[in-house]
Amino acid sequence: MRGRRKSAGREPAATGSGSSGRTPLISGNWKMNHNHFEAIQTIQKLAYALNRDDYRHTDVSVHPPFTDLRSVQTVLQADDIPIALGAQDCHTADSGAFTGEVSAAMLAKLDVTYVIVGHSERRALFGESDELVNAKARAVLRHGMVPIVCVGETVDQRRAGQAHDVVAGQLAGSLDGLDAAVVGTLVVAYEPVWAIGTGETATPADAQDMCAHVRSQAADRWGSDAASALRIQYGGSVKPSNAPDLMEQPDIDGALVGGASLAAADFSRIVNYRLYAA
Ligand code: 13P
Repeated sequence: MRGRRKSAGREPAATGSGSSGRTPLISGNWKMNHNHFEAIQTIQKLAYALNRDDYRHTDVSVHPPFTDLRSVQTVLQADDIPIALGAQDCHTADSGAFTGEVSAAMLAKLDVTYVIVGHSERRALFGESDELVNAKARAVLRHGMVPIVCVGETVDQRRAGQAHDVVAGQLAGSLDGLDAAVVGTLVVAYEPVWAIGTGETATPADAQDMCAHVRSQAADRWGSDAASALRIQYGGSVKPSNAPDLMEQPDIDGALVGGASLAAADFSRIVNYRLYAA
C-alpha cells in the first residue's frame, strides 16, 4: 500500500536495481539550504527515522553546504551513523590562489565519500562546461572519492527531440578519457532540468528510457562490464510518493533528491522506498 510503511520485520522485496547486483544509492542534495545548526538537527532526525536494517539494501548520502560538512561529519562519526557524507561541488586544483573555492583534497580530509559534479544549476548558473566537469570528476577520483556526475536536458532540448543526444554528449564529455575500470565505480545522475524543483517528475517510463540510454552509451564507450556496474540515479522532484515507481525501473539505481531531502521525515521514506511499494 503506497504511503504507509509495511509492518516491521518484513523482508523488503528485491525490486528494480535490487536484482542487478547494483546497490541503490539515495542521495540528499541540500543545495544552499540549512545552516550548520539546522544541518545537525536534520541529520540527527534522519538517523532517528532510519533503522539499522534500512541501510542493508541501500546506500544513503547527504550533501550539505560546505559550511556544514564538519558539523555533519562529527555527528555521523560520534553516533556511528551509516550515512555517507557528500559534497555538492569542488575545485579542480588541490590548493592555490582560488578565492572562495574548496578543493577535493579538503573534502577527502573531512571523510567525504561522494561529490556531485556538473549539477545542472552549476552548468546553467555558473557556466560549467563538460571539460570543467571532467576535470572536477578527475580531482574527486584522485582523492579516493566517488563523483556523482550529473547530466540532463532542458525542456527546449526535449521538445526539439534532442534529449538523447544532449545527454549522450554530456556523458561522453564529462567522463572523457576515464578508464573502463573507473567508470564502473562512478555514479551518474540523470536530472532532466525541467523536472528540478518544479514538482514535475519524469514518468517512470521516461526516466527509465534515459537511464537505459546512459547505460547503453556507457557500454559502447567503456564496455558492458563498466556499464553494468555503473550506478545511475534519477533526480527531479523525487518525493516519497513517486520514489517506489521510479526505483522499480531496471536501470534506475537510486535518486538524487533536492527539496524532499531537507526534511528527515520525507527523505527517510524515500530511502525506504521498498517498504512503500505498491
Ligand atoms: P528537486 O528534488 O528539488 O527537484 O531537486 C533535484 C535536484 O536538483 C537534486 O540534485
